[in-house]
Amino acid sequence: MAVVLTVILVSRGFGRTEWDEETSDEPSTLVFRREDLQRIWNWEIASGHYPSSQSIPKEIGLQDPPLNPALPPKSRTTSPSRYSPHSAVVASADTDTLGVGPKRLYPDIQSTPPHVSYPPRPLPGSVTDLDIVMKYCDFSTGKYVRDCLEVLRVGAGLDNGQRTRRGSIDDWKYIYMEDANSTTSSTVAEVADDPVPPPISRPGAAKPKGRDNDPDAGLIRKHGAKWEPTLTLPATFTHQPATSLSEPCDPENPRVFHMFWTGPFTDKPYMALLAFLFTQNTGLHEPQDAPSPAVCRPQFWMWINPGPAAAVPNPNAMHDMFAQLKESPWASPFLHPRFKDVIRFRLWNTTEQLDGVPEIRDEWRELQKTLFNSGGHVISVPEEDEDDETEEGDENAHSTKEKKEKDDMLHRTGSKSSAEYDRLSVILSDMARFVLCHRFGGVYLDADTILLRDWEELWGWKGAFAYRWSRLPKYNTAVLRMNRGSALGSFLFRTALRNGLDFHPMTVSRYTKDAYLEGLLLRLPDALFDAAWLNTEEYQRDRPPQPYFTAFGDFFDTPRAEQRCPTGPRL
Ligand SMILES: *[C@@H]1O[C@H](CO)[C@@H](O)[C@H](O)[C@H]1NC(C)=O
Ligand SMILES: *[C@@H]1O[C@H](CO)[C@@H](O)[C@H](O)[C@H]1NC(C)=O
Repeated sequence: MAVVLTVILVSRGFGRTEWDEETSDEPSTLVFRREDLQRIWNWEIASGHYPSSQSIPKEIGLQDPPLNPALPPKSRTTSPSRYSPHSAVVASADTDTLGVGPKRLYPDIQSTPPHVSYPPRPLPGSVTDLDIVMKYCDFSTGKYVRDCLEVLRVGAGLDNGQRTRRGSIDDWKYIYMEDANSTTSSTVAEVADDPVPPPISRPGAAKPKGRDNDPDAGLIRKHGAKWEPTLTLPATFTHQPATSLSEPCDPENPRVFHMFWTGPFTDKPYMALLAFLFTQNTGLHEPQDAPSPAVCRPQFWMWINPGPAAAVPNPNAMHDMFAQLKESPWASPFLHPRFKDVIRFRLWNTTEQLDGVPEIRDEWRELQKTLFNSGGHVISVPEEDEDDETEEGDENAHSTKEKKEKDDMLHRTGSKSSAEYDRLSVILSDMARFVLCHRFGGVYLDADTILLRDWEELWGWKGAFAYRWSRLPKYNTAVLRMNRGSALGSFLFRTALRNGLDFHPMTVSRYTKDAYLEGLLLRLPDALFDAAWLNTEEYQRDRPPQPYFTAFGDFFDTPRAEQRCPTGPRL
């Protein structure tokens, strides 16, 4: 008893941190039938959001390989031995998609004289092949951050050092262009003309033996929940290679970086904006009257959450926001007309944003009391009158006292110091990133993210992705890329709604895991976002990506073993 008690007390004492590994026996969060999960996969693939050759898990039970317009026709690498048609236990094997998209050209990217002093700009319309990146960078398969960064550097032409004792590094080319003229039509007939053998048929994928009666066999439904009604999905997008677009920007894939900021504008968002201006090809170096550039200029939308002010209808909210920005020495430079096409300050209004998501529009208000829910940990907002349905509605009817209490609670939405670190704001921003990506498309960046290089090629990859701390299997959505109005987004919002609107990154991992949709939200390893992290956590100390200094004096008297060239690039 004493031992058990001690363990409980000790573990309670530590409290939860953001990246606690959760226990593996977490209850299921799944509320969708297999039929719906199949539709989600098919929708994403048909929309060109799955440029990957990774297989679809067998649990999804797709019998016919979906046609994939974002993948070139290719000989199958899967060996037939992988399927065992007579397996009595579960569905036979994973399904591969059938590439019917444009051919890919992997150019040799080099600086050409006389421009060798600077690394080359990314080619407009080029795409990072994240399958190849994963091949060299995935921590789970034992890859080192250091080697990954070398592949990224060399493949992007950022390393013109004369390397010796290297074999062929053609396999390192991870940036491709789609050849618009080679687009095969998406009919099976044409694919059959291809010398490539037809896909291996894998019978029995959908119907495990002996369980023919239950189409959802093998899926674990959320305890006590009903299956959700069938998702209404919009028409699929059309995958278009960049070279076949009539203008540089693809209207279906807006290049917008979103950032969410609560409280006074400080040096942190200032740094983030500066990094954006310095690294992305915003075209600001061109004279104003120059012809419009051939590259798609990315935009940065800084979402300002006015905190408690947002809870009260205020026709001057927008005006107030700009007045405050103008006062701030960190924000005012970006109000210059020069930046009007690339930086936008936008007012965050929780009610308006949640109402803008059709999947939760009619139901989020019922969950209001638990709206600030993170990983099951609910922060209760002081209750309003029982009959009060909306966050703002009837606000004026409240007594001043009640209003004051509410303001006090919501007032904490600005984190001024680490001691005053505020969960509420974090929880709101956990949800905000999914709302923004689902409504507007683009990439969400946490406010401590600094862009280190041009994202041109990453924009080209239309699959959704998020950051992962490699030693944990789960997502971290500090960097989140999702397509506008996607089936994945619909799934996430409906599932979250049935799970208390919890958008904590670790919970979101469970949503996709329980539904076998993990493949649709690729987890990119540390090497791409935070190359020093694994080292800091005592991993890969034998071959660190950059010199690992343990003492301040090392900067002046560098240990012999650490005297190596630095590596890059990170994203
Ligand atoms: C594609 O075809 C068009 C006209 O048919 C041609 O102008 C263009 O150069 C071709 N592109 C490639 C990559 O071959
Ligand atoms: C927020 O949006 C709601 C609904 O659109 C609106 O009623 C309210 O006035 C807005 N609040 C502010 C501060 O603009």
